[in-house]
Amino acid sequence: MRQLEAVIFDLDGVITDSAHFHYLAWKKLAADIDIEIDEAFNETLKGISRMDSLDLILAKGGRENDFTLEQKEELAAKKNAHYVELLKDLSPADILPGIKPLLDAIRAANLKIALASVSKNAPMVLAALDLTDSFDYLADAAKITHSKPDPEIFLVAAAGLGVEPANAVGIEDAQAGVDAIKSAGMKAIGVGTGLVGTDELVSDTSKLTLAMIQKVFQI
Ligand code: G6P
Ligand code: MG
Repeated sequence: MRQLEAVIFDLDGVITDSAHFHYLAWKKLAADIDIEIDEAFNETLKGISRMDSLDLILAKGGRENDFTLEQKEELAAKKNAHYVELLKDLSPADILPGIKPLLDAIRAANLKIALASVSKNAPMVLAALDLTDSFDYLADAAKITHSKPDPEIFLVAAAGLGVEPANAVGIEDAQAGVDAIKSAGMKAIGVGTGLVGTDELVSDTSKLTLAMIQKVFQI
């Protein structure tokens, strides 16, 4: 029998608004190499690893053959430096509405909590938000070979918690992330607008509750 045992969260755009900082950092990096990106294009980068994101940006500017691997690694490092700089004032005040009480309610109900973010900065971001102890398991982005929409990171998160994917619910703000959750065989809750294939879609994190997660699990 299926039974709800765990809730698995994306980080950027679900726990805190760092998705916006990723966008600003990529926009600055892209401008340095004469490529312009906007928020609509940025939607296609959400949930995508650093190097895969760079490849998408270079392709958008028709510059996919203009850089060696070493130069691309330098560009990716530069983007990350911009991103880390934007995060320097991150504090618990930046936790998105409703998230802390939700994490507390999930734990009080004896359910497990994992993070499934392909961001290598995830442990640092959680620490700055003072949320590290709210999670039972963090999937290690450095060990993931496929970014979302591949289910790998959600499967690793479930395995790390010792729960069957079918007994977990995933929460995501990106289309690639929703697709990853569904491919992992979990129920998916989307946060935001325009996401397709979710089992439930809420406009923002303040609408997420444990009761809602339990209801979505039963669908
Ligand atoms: C998340 C974000 C992406 C970001 C990726 C890698 O999936 O949604 O925008 O590119 O993590 O993040 P990192 O911090 O490792 O560059
Ligand atoms: Mg996200």
